[in-house]
Amino acid sequence: MVFGDEKSKVIEPLGRISNPCIMVIFGASGDLAKRKLIPALYNLARERLLSREFAVVGFARRKMSHEEFREKISQDMKELGMGELDPDLWNWLVQRLYYLPGDVQDPNAYQQLQNLLTDVDKKHGTQGNYLYYLATDPEFFSRIIRQFGSAGLVREENGHWRRVIIEKPFGRDLDSARALNQEIREVLNESQIYRIDHYLGKETVQNILVFRFANGIFEPIWNRRYIDHVQITVAESIGVGQRGGYYDNAGALRDMVPNHIFQLLTLTAMEPPISFEANAVRDEQVKILRAIQYISPEEVLRYTVRGQYGEGIVGEQRTPAYRSEQNVSPNSYTETFVALKLYIDNWRWANVPFYLRTGKRLPCRVTEIAIQFKSAPFVLFRKTAVEHLKPNLLVLYIQPNEGISLNFGAKIPGPIVRMGAVDMEFRYADYFGSTPSTGHERLLYDCMLGDATLFQRADMVEAGWSVVSTIQDVWKALPYRKFPNYAAGTWGPQEADDLMARDGREWRKCTS
Ligand code: BG6
Repeated sequence: MVFGDEKSKVIEPLGRISNPCIMVIFGASGDLAKRKLIPALYNLARERLLSREFAVVGFARRKMSHEEFREKISQDMKELGMGELDPDLWNWLVQRLYYLPGDVQDPNAYQQLQNLLTDVDKKHGTQGNYLYYLATDPEFFSRIIRQFGSAGLVREENGHWRRVIIEKPFGRDLDSARALNQEIREVLNESQIYRIDHYLGKETVQNILVFRFANGIFEPIWNRRYIDHVQITVAESIGVGQRGGYYDNAGALRDMVPNHIFQLLTLTAMEPPISFEANAVRDEQVKILRAIQYISPEEVLRYTVRGQYGEGIVGEQRTPAYRSEQNVSPNSYTETFVALKLYIDNWRWANVPFYLRTGKRLPCRVTEIAIQFKSAPFVLFRKTAVEHLKPNLLVLYIQPNEGISLNFGAKIPGPIVRMGAVDMEFRYADYFGSTPSTGHERLLYDCMLGDATLFQRADMVEAGWSVVSTIQDVWKALPYRKFPNYAAGTWGPQEADDLMARDGREWRKCTS
């Protein structure tokens, strides 16, 4: 099918409708179900990608009837301000919502779940296919999966499938991630496990692969001969909000680096996969993680920076220090900012530094990957001040203003040779409009179809943790004594700038 306007001709294969199934949401009364999962199901239904043989069973501790659950979800959708819902479509979805109150640790609850699933399956013709989404506190993941095993809820027989989506964080470090992988594999086959990282659901993240491998012009220059360095920034202007309890135990490194930032890094740096089949892509991603140069304990202090925000002004608003946030210890040594430099020891990237940074309460929300090319030889422009000759820069804007820009030098019109830096810009919204999306649509849809390409394999998760494990150890052994060390609304501590300045480089001044 071809559609589009003058500017863009979009070649799109006909969407395949997802397989019949029941999606069981553990933690159904929580924030994720409300803000992401139910809206994503509605969006999928609107795109006609959801099977007609479909139903949802919510499971949580709170007591509610099916009807009360339906009312709550309808109310949530109104509050989310997703605009006018199509009444017929919404009604169709609401009629497929069921609820079971229960305690995840109670074996009886799983028996009741089994009975409810059998009834709902019969009523909606979902062919015995069940997709379990674990949106609970991570401490329950392995216990829930063990209960699935005992209750026979994940047995695949007679041609039906049973799959489990596991939310992040997957472990706290290498050892706990390994232990969790081992525990869940006692019950599930790897093909039934879908470890989710919502960054892979973002259109622009998926576009990194298309940009690199569907265009002939970038790949030849995508290597150490032409690239000076790469900067990946995931900046947030928000603080920890209501999540102080979780965050104070996690910190920025654990919360963002081995998962979201490493997804961006591996897609940017990986070799072309032999196909877009799940294992082919994931094999290449994991090779990058394994090629990341070991950071020794001595190097941790030189190559990494941690920060914690004090009070300050973000936008126009005065905001409190991290240590004054709800459920955060007033003496907390948890970092809310991290910057680090690493190298990928392979043929393509030898000696090209990758600088990564992420933090809360930074001046704006922006996620981007900036590829800085090497400078051109300046010999022709001897008489032009060299500081005016900027090297080329390619920026992949992941969010919020999704797009790509290429910055290059151009002559400023006039009788004397003067150079200016200009941008060639592509913005998604200009070409493709904007389709409402929570980022979970693609991931749920893929899981229903059994495509694990955008999910993390066990070895990827472990490889990610193993890269950061020395950093975790050194930081734990040597808590940073001078927190808070950056004011809310600034770009992190001075040390982050020093990290780049020592290499004669500087962070981009990102704007959203
Ligand atoms: C979550 C982290 O996984 O990702 C949060 O736990 C963070 O701390 C969030 O705010 C960022 O996601 P996004 O999609 O807003 O960039």
